[in-house]
Amino acid sequence: MTDLEFHIQVDPNVESIVMPENVKIGLMVTEHRKNCSKLSCSFDYHAFAIGQSPFHVPEPLEASLRENTHQSHYSASIGISELREAIAEFNNRYFNFNIDPSLVVIGHGTKGMIFTIFSLIKGDVIIPAPSWISYVPQIKLLGKNFHIIDLKPEDEYKLTAENLDNFLSNLHQDQHLLVLNSPHNPSGAVYRRDELEKLADICRKHGILVLSDEIYALATYDQESFASMRSDYPEGTFVTNGLSKDRGAAGYRLGHCLLPENCSEELQLNFKKIAATIYTNVSTPTQYAAITAYKQNDVIDEYIKITREIHRIMGTNLSREVGKIEGLEVTTPTGGFYFLVSFNKLKNGLLKHNVKMANELSNALLKHPFHIAALTGDACLFNPDDFTARVAFVDYDGRQAFNNYKIRTPRTEEEESEFFKTNAPRMFQAITTFKEFVTSLK
Ligand SMILES: Cc1ncc(COP(=O)(O)O)c(C=O)c1O
Repeated sequence: MTDLEFHIQVDPNVESIVMPENVKIGLMVTEHRKNCSKLSCSFDYHAFAIGQSPFHVPEPLEASLRENTHQSHYSASIGISELREAIAEFNNRYFNFNIDPSLVVIGHGTKGMIFTIFSLIKGDVIIPAPSWISYVPQIKLLGKNFHIIDLKPEDEYKLTAENLDNFLSNLHQDQHLLVLNSPHNPSGAVYRRDELEKLADICRKHGILVLSDEIYALATYDQESFASMRSDYPEGTFVTNGLSKDRGAAGYRLGHCLLPENCSEELQLNFKKIAATIYTNVSTPTQYAAITAYKQNDVIDEYIKITREIHRIMGTNLSREVGKIEGLEVTTPTGGFYFLVSFNKLKNGLLKHNVKMANELSNALLKHPFHIAALTGDACLFNPDDFTARVAFVDYDGRQAFNNYKIRTPRTEEEESEFFKTNAPRMFQAITTFKEFVTSLK
C-alpha cells in the first residue's frame, strides 16, 4: 500500500462536530491581525468572544496548589474525600443545599462533568436555545439524540413551564434529560424561585431529569436571589459547578457534580466506572489545592463578593450604553458575564456587509475597522435568521480592577460608571465601535 492509498478514517460522530466557534474566532483574530487590510492598523480587538474570568486566582488557592505538588499518587476516581466534604460544606453554606458528601463527585472541569452526565444518563437530551456552546457538540460526539426548545426574548430567554409542558407532551414518553443553565450563558438571565418551582412540577409530571448547570451561580448580582433547581427538584436534578468562573481558575480544570437526592448506589458506582475507565482521577495536587477554595476562608469569600460586584458594574454599564444605540436591542444581565446584542432591526443594513446568515455576523463585526470579536449564529444555537451576538464582557485587567475596587469602592451609579470607564477602557471604547458599526449599516 502506498502513502497515498493510506487514509486514516475518523469516527463519523467526531466528523459531525466542528471546531468550537470561540476557538475559531480566536484563530480568526490572529489571522486578521496578520492580514488586516489597513497596513497602518494596530488591530487592538475587542475581546468579547471567550468567556474567561478576567480575575486572578485567589492567593490562598494558588498557595495551596504550590504546597501540594508532592501529591503525586493516584487518587479516588470520583475525588478525594476531603474535597468532597469541603464542597458539600461550601454548597450548604452558600446555597442551603444540605448535601451529603457522598453525593459529590469530582471531574475535569464542569465541561468534563457535563460530558460524564450525558454519557451516563439514558435518554434524549433537551437543550433550550440559545445556549452555551458545548452541550450540542458533546451530545453529537456521544451519538445521542437531542431536541432544541427555542427560548424567546419576550420571556427574557428563560424556559417557561408552559413551553416545557407543551414540548414534552409532544415528545415520546421516556426518561429524558433537560439542561437548565442559570445564570444563563449567553443572555445573562437568572431564573427566579417561582419559575423553577413551576418547571420542577412539569419535570415531575413527565418524569424528566435535569442537569442544572450553575457555573455562574456565585456571580448572581443579587446573590440572595439565586435559586437552584436542586431545591425544587432534589430527586431529579444533577447540579454542576466548578472553579473556572468564580475563582478565576479555568485552567485548573476542576469541576463537580451534586447527584440527585436519594440516588441509587448503582448510579454512584456508574460514575466511578466512567471516571476510572477514562481518566483515573482528576489531578491529585489540584484536588488538594481545591480544598482551600471550598473551605471557609475570609479571603476567598471577599474575592467572590468583589469579583461579583465588578461583573455587575461592567455588565450593567456596557449593556446599558450599547442598548442606547439606535437599532440595537440588548439583554440586561443579572448574573454571569454575558449579554446579548440583537441586530435584527438592522437586517437590511447588514446586507451591505454581505451578512445574510447569522453565522456571518461575527465576521462582519471582526472586520477592519471594528475588530469586535463576539459569537453569533450556530455557536450559541441561534436560528440562521437571528442576527444576535453574544458579548462576554471580560475585556479588562481583572487584577487591577479588583485592587482599585478595594482601594476605592464605588458607591453611587455615577461612581460605578466612572469605575467602568477607568478600569475597562477597551470596553468603554467598544461603545463607540458598536456605534460606528451601526452607522456603517446606513
Ligand atoms: C454555561 C457553561 N457551562 C460550563 C462551562 C464549562 O466550564 P469549565 O471551565 O468548568 O469546564 C462554561 C464555560 O464557559 C459555561 O459557560
